[in-house]
Amino acid sequence: MRRVLTAVLGAGALLLAMLVAVAPPASAAPGTLKEAAAAKGRVFGAAAAQGHMGESAYASTLDREFNQLTPENEMKWDTTEPSRNSFNYGAADQLVSHAQAQGMKIRGHTLVWHSQLPGWVGGISSRDELLSVMRNHISNEAGHFAGKIAYWDVVNEAFQDGSGARRDSVFQRVIGDGYIEEAFRAARAADPTAKLCYNDYNIDGQNAKSNAVYTMVQDFKRRGVPIDCVGLQAHLILGNVPSDMQANMQRLANLGVDVHITELDIRMNTPADGSKLATQANDYRKVVSACLAVSRCTVMTVWGITDKYSWVPDTFPGEGAALLFDDNYNKKPAYTAALEALGGGDPGDPGDPGDPGAVTCAYTRTAQWSNGFNGQVTVTAGSSAVGSWTAVMTMGSGQQITALWNGTPSTNGSVVTVKPVSWNARLAAGASASFGFTVNAPGGNATAPSVTCGSP
Ligand code: XIL
Repeated sequence: MRRVLTAVLGAGALLLAMLVAVAPPASAAPGTLKEAAAAKGRVFGAAAAQGHMGESAYASTLDREFNQLTPENEMKWDTTEPSRNSFNYGAADQLVSHAQAQGMKIRGHTLVWHSQLPGWVGGISSRDELLSVMRNHISNEAGHFAGKIAYWDVVNEAFQDGSGARRDSVFQRVIGDGYIEEAFRAARAADPTAKLCYNDYNIDGQNAKSNAVYTMVQDFKRRGVPIDCVGLQAHLILGNVPSDMQANMQRLANLGVDVHITELDIRMNTPADGSKLATQANDYRKVVSACLAVSRCTVMTVWGITDKYSWVPDTFPGEGAALLFDDNYNKKPAYTAALEALGGGDPGDPGDPGDPGAVTCAYTRTAQWSNGFNGQVTVTAGSSAVGSWTAVMTMGSGQQITALWNGTPSTNGSVVTVKPVSWNARLAAGASASFGFTVNAPGGNATAPSVTCGSP
C-alpha cells in the first residue's frame, strides 16, 4: 500500500515537474491593447461617447483595453458654445473625470472645425469679429480643460480632397489662410502643456491633400507657429490601407512633429463574413505595424469601441463592422491582429467570451532557392468545429505566387486571399488543414508573407 502510494506520489511529482517544464513563462505577452502598446512606448485610445458610458460592457471594454479617450462629440463647438459666450462642458467633464480615474490620457477634439459648428458662428462676416470669436472659443475651452488634455486636435479638416486647396469654411472665407496659425497660437496660450495637433482625413497616404498638410507643417515649423503633431484620421476602406502610409508618417515626423492615428476604423460592406473579417484583420495589422515602424508615431486611436455604436453605418449606408469589437463586444479577428502586431497575445483564457478562437494560422517556409521559396500555411480550428476558413496573406514587395495547392487563391495586388478546396474546408475542433505555395521572388526571398485567418 505504501509502495503504491509512493509510486503515485512519485508519478505525481514527475507530472508536476513536466507541467512546470512546459508551463508558459510567467511574463506572458501583454494581453490587452493598452498594455501591449505601452510596452512599445505607444498609447492606444478609443473615441467614447458619454451617452453610452452607462452600458457596463461599453465602459468595461474601454477601461480594460484603452489608455487614451477622445470624446466623440462632447468637445465640439456646437456642444461647448451653442450660443455666443455661453459655455457648456457637462458631458465632456464627465468623460474627462472617467479618463482621469482610469489613468487614461485625454485627446481634446476639436477646437476649430467647419462641421458641428453652431449656426451663429456661420453668420459672422467681419474678420475682426470672427477672429475674436474664434480666439475666445479656444481660450475658454482649452482654458477650461488646461492641464488635463494630453493632445488637442486644434484644427480639424481644413483641406479639400483631391486638390489639397483650403476647404471653404466660414473661417477660411472670413479670416483667410491665417486662421489656422491663429488657432494654434491661441491654443498654446490657453493650455501650454497640451500637444497641439492638426487633424484630417485622407491624409493617411501621400496625395495632394497630405502634401498640402506637409507644406503647412513645414512652414509652421520654420516660422515658429506652435504645432506638435499631425493626426491622420485613418477612416479606411477594407483592403485599401495606403501602401505608403509608413512613408507618409515618416516624412511628417521628419519635420519634427509627432504623428498620431486619431480616428482609425476600417469599414466594409455589411454584413461582415469571415473572409472580410480576415482581410480587415490584415488591414489593422498593416496600420499598427506602419505606426510602430515610425518612432514618432506615438498614438493610435480607434473611432469607437464597438461596431454597435460606430458612426459608419449612419454616414456610409450599407457599410459598417469597422472596429475591433463586434456588436456584442466580442473581440474580432482585427482585435487579435492589432494586439499581435503590438507584440501582445490574447491569453485565450478558457471561457473568455471575447475570444474569437475560431481559427488560428501559422506559416512555415518549406524550401528556398536564390529567387524564390515554398511556403505552407496551417489553419487550425479552436475549441469548436468550423465549416470553412479564409487565410489572407500579404506578400513581400515583388513577390508573386506562381502555384498554390490545397487552397483556392484570389490575388489583389500584394494581398492573396486563400479559401479552402472542397475537402479541407470543414475542420473539427482542434483539427488543421494546410495549403502550400511556390513564390517567385526576383527581388529577394528574405521577406516572409504575413498571414491572418478567419472563419468562414
Ligand atoms: C463623428 C461622430 O462619430 C458622430 O457621432 C457625429 O454624428 C459626427 O461626427 N471626423 C471627425 C469626427 O473628426 O469628429 C467625426 O465624428 C468623424 C469624422
